[in-house]
This record gives sequence, structure tokens and C-alpha cells, in this order.
Amino acid sequence: MAEGIKVAPSILSADYLRLGEQVREAEAAGADYIHVDVMDGHFVPNITIGPVVVEAIRRATRLPLDVHLMIEEPERHIEAFAKVGASFLTVHPEATQQVHRTIASIRKLGVGPGVALNPGTPVSLVEDVLADVDLVLVMSVDPGFGGQEFIEHVLPKARRLRKLLDERGLSAELEIDGGITPETAPRCVEAGVRVLVAGTAVFKEPRSVAESIAALRQSVAGVVAAG
Ligand code: DX5
Ligand code: ZN
Repeated sequence: MAEGIKVAPSILSADYLRLGEQVREAEAAGADYIHVDVMDGHFVPNITIGPVVVEAIRRATRLPLDVHLMIEEPERHIEAFAKVGASFLTVHPEATQQVHRTIASIRKLGVGPGVALNPGTPVSLVEDVLADVDLVLVMSVDPGFGGQEFIEHVLPKARRLRKLLDERGLSAELEIDGGITPETAPRCVEAGVRVLVAGTAVFKEPRSVAESIAALRQSVAGVVAAG
């Protein structure tokens, strides 16, 4: 059964005018991480937030901050994000010349390194650094915006990653991000995903944040997970 599935609400879809309140609502509702989407207008078309906002969120919650860097040359900014309290820093391998070095630098700063795979990015790009990371993020939409439709064909990739992690005895979290709802979440967990990122399905629902998180958990409660 799907035990120990984590939910990481993405504040990209939160009301930024009441960000602290929304983060506290998510924590009170039993969220496991707060997922923070950093975009630079280069690696992805959209621009969002930087370290100052992460610093403010850090003061609003005790939950781990799962910071997803959708930026070119993330190595130039990891220290700034580490300083303001990021718990995980996830980078895209296409955005950094030396992904191994970037991962090592993140670790050296006392932060959990992560790598993210776009829907069109193959597993082979991170296969050789799996042992060095704490988190592997499978993008189930092209990164840049909330509220996009789930791309079904990333599921075999999640399954392959689950298998690789298990075969190698690695405990890195396997996370999925994009279009996660109570309808799509069960198939992700079935494929071996353990952390569900959800923005729209948590913050843009007519129901409360607590009810939305509960609905996500409920949707995967009976699922037999791979791995
Ligand atoms: C997309 C971001 C996601 C986004 C997901 O580029 O990485 O974290 O917030 O939003 P939903 O859950 O609405 O697809
Ligand atoms: Zn994200």
C-alpha cells in the first residue's frame, strides 16, 4: 500500500498577497515540504521569485523548503538560496555545465541536492549522479507555469528511475511535479513516485487547502506502489 507518500504544495499557485498564511495553512494541513518554484525568464519563459521570498517563507514554517531552480547557471545562486534556508536545491542538468560539481557544491553548503528531468530529458542525463543526490524530480509538464496538463508519457521514466534507485540501494526521494491532481496522483505512486508536488490542486481549488491536501492523500491511499 502507498504508505509514506509525501505531499509538497507548490506555492506558485498560492495567493502571494497572503503567502505566509497560505504556507501556514499547508503546514497545518499536514504538508511534508513546501515546494518553491524559482524561474529566471531564460531557462523557462516565466519569472517568479528569488532568495528574498524564500527567506520570508523560511520564517513562516518549519517544514523543509524544496526549492526548484528553473534557472540557467544555478551554480551562481545556490549559496544565496542556501543562506536563506533552502532544505533541497534541485537543478536541471541542461542548465549547468558541470552538474556533478554543482551537486557537490550544494551538498557542501549543507543542503540536499536534487536533479530535475524535463519531459523530454532522458534518464541517462542523471544516471551517473543518482548516488550523489537526495532528490530526483520528474517533470510531468514542461516547466514554467502552473496549471498545465499532466503528460502521461513521463510515467515510464518515473518507473525506470524507481527501479534504478532500488537496484542501487539509493534512498533519494522520487518526486513528480506538474498537473498532479487526485486523478493523476495514483498512477504516479503506482510508478514508484513518493513525493507529489501540487500547485493548482492545492491552492486554486474551491475547497480549502486542508481539504485539497486530504483529497490528494485519499486518492493514493489504496494504491500499490512500485518499488
Ligand atoms: C512548473 C512548476 C510546478 C508548478 C506545478 O514549472 O515546477 O511546481 O507549480 O503546478 P501545477 O500543480 O499547477 O501543475
Ligand atoms: Zn516545481
